[in-house]
Amino acid sequence: MRNVRHFVTVTALVLLVTYLTYIGLTSLGLMPLAASAQAGPIDWLFDIHVMVMSFLFSLITVILVYSMVVFRRKPGETGDGAHFEGNTGLEIFWTIVPLVAVIGFGIVGADNLRQVRAVDPNALEVRVIGYQWAWRFEYPQGFSSTTLYLPANKQVLLKMESPDVLHSFWVPEFRVKQDLVPGRVTELRITPNLEGEYKVRCAEICGTSHAYMESPVVVVSQTAYDAWVTEQVALYEAELLASEGKPDAKRGEKLYTELGCKACHSLNGTPGTGPTWKGLFGRENRPLADGSVVALVNEEYLYESITAPNAKTVQDFKANAMPSFSYLRDSQIYDLIEFIKTLK
Ligand code: CUA
Repeated sequence: MRNVRHFVTVTALVLLVTYLTYIGLTSLGLMPLAASAQAGPIDWLFDIHVMVMSFLFSLITVILVYSMVVFRRKPGETGDGAHFEGNTGLEIFWTIVPLVAVIGFGIVGADNLRQVRAVDPNALEVRVIGYQWAWRFEYPQGFSSTTLYLPANKQVLLKMESPDVLHSFWVPEFRVKQDLVPGRVTELRITPNLEGEYKVRCAEICGTSHAYMESPVVVVSQTAYDAWVTEQVALYEAELLASEGKPDAKRGEKLYTELGCKACHSLNGTPGTGPTWKGLFGRENRPLADGSVVALVNEEYLYESITAPNAKTVQDFKANAMPSFSYLRDSQIYDLIEFIKTLK
């Protein structure tokens, strides 16, 4: 009878502490705003985990503290405790219950993944390039942007590439996260469902400026998105028209900033991590690290230096300091070269 009373008391205490722990943990607001359709199933599963964690925490601490208080040694008690030789029923119980729980979570988790990865065949496709240390987004209409604009309530399929090292695309409000792997195209599907301004940050340590590898993410209504696209397309076409499809120094200058070239290549003659671009085009007898020289800095040489930077390392500079930009379209590379030509 005493045993039944202990059992009932402990059960009641475990339930009470579970409830209080769960309420306490959820009131902390551990999760940021939920702004995507994918956040629904993820937050639901997370919530269930918090419940189970609260229960396990209570189960252990309540029994521990209860035993310490209720079954403590009474004054004058000197004998040994009762001897137990195991309990087969209990062993079976605490093997079967976790087994069922783990299998259950496996099934729930797989179904959750199915929901999060659900494919919408009409998804908007955006190419994402993450490199040391910025993001660039290329839209199907041909223009590119350093801000990720997305329409609300439409799935976007991000096709992600990295020209240098591992990066990771992470917008906490969207919950999902995906690595960018050099030499591969990785995919991530997001359906933003709350208009607002967020931030994509790189979640994979990728070098000295990893912490600053952030870009704005703006979710707007479909109408506002369409207007933005129309505006961007007009700008892009005006640029193309102005240069009649020929390489354009203005676009090259924009790329110089967007691609992060300016982090290493100055325009005023000061040497940085990489050689300055001032007076580069047309230079003769450029000395290389291996003692040889480049007879003339021409388009061919610059093209090679952009797409295969380690082919010819300039004297006083280190090899492997620059990633390859071979993922750029040829027209973009020639825009850059056109810009370099203007830096007399
Ligand atoms: Cu890119 Cu960290």
